[in-house]
Amino acid sequence: MEKIIAPSVLSLDYTDTKSQLKQLVESDAKWLHFDVMDGNFVPNISFGTDILKALKKGSNMFVDAHLMIQDPRKYYPEFVRAGADMITFHYEVFNDIDACRTLLLEIKATGIQAGIVIKPNTSVDCIRDLLADVDMVLVMSVEPGFGGQSFMPNSLDKIRDLAKFKKDNNLAYLIQIDGGINAETYALASNAGCEVFVAGSYIFNQDIVEGVKSLLCQECV
Ligand code: DX5
Ligand code: ZN
Repeated sequence: MEKIIAPSVLSLDYTDTKSQLKQLVESDAKWLHFDVMDGNFVPNISFGTDILKALKKGSNMFVDAHLMIQDPRKYYPEFVRAGADMITFHYEVFNDIDACRTLLLEIKATGIQAGIVIKPNTSVDCIRDLLADVDMVLVMSVEPGFGGQSFMPNSLDKIRDLAKFKKDNNLAYLIQIDGGINAETYALASNAGCEVFVAGSYIFNQDIVEGVKSLLCQECV
């Protein structure tokens, strides 16, 4: 399938929001990745629904909201109302398949998509039984909480495992990676079978349109 770039607006320059959003819309990125941090599940606080509403108002891009929060069950409806097209939450919030499945189905019943996220120390086996019910699996390739960290290569085996399991079982979930993505790590993850690539500092530390292009262009080399 065609690879999807999801720039992480955690790294956007908010003194220049209008122009950066315009560049994102003009780029080959199809998605925006919206990191929600509550200072509890992760040791950092980011932003909430007002910023999401503004981003949706200024673009028609698909937004996946990555909830790094301790209580996704309580807060997800606000992100649905604010315009999220997909919501992902962490397996580690519940450490329980049934609780995760219940929330996934609840989110999907609102008419948007739902996915599950695993941290670097969580194995694919923990979520294996959810894979028929998810629209996407997000494999974290850094510890969640901050942009600009280095890629953890143990994520590649998880991507390979998820890609094989998807094929063998004829499933439809997307495989997403998040953390430390640049041209080099993009190529590694892409070859392992990843389909959706979150990139924050790599894209926003250069010309946005060129940054997105330079990732997708790895497909041609
Ligand atoms: C980290 C966030 C990421 C972050 C990625 O907790 O989930 O989405 O923005 O940033 P980079 O691409 O800079 O690693
Ligand atoms: Zn994220």
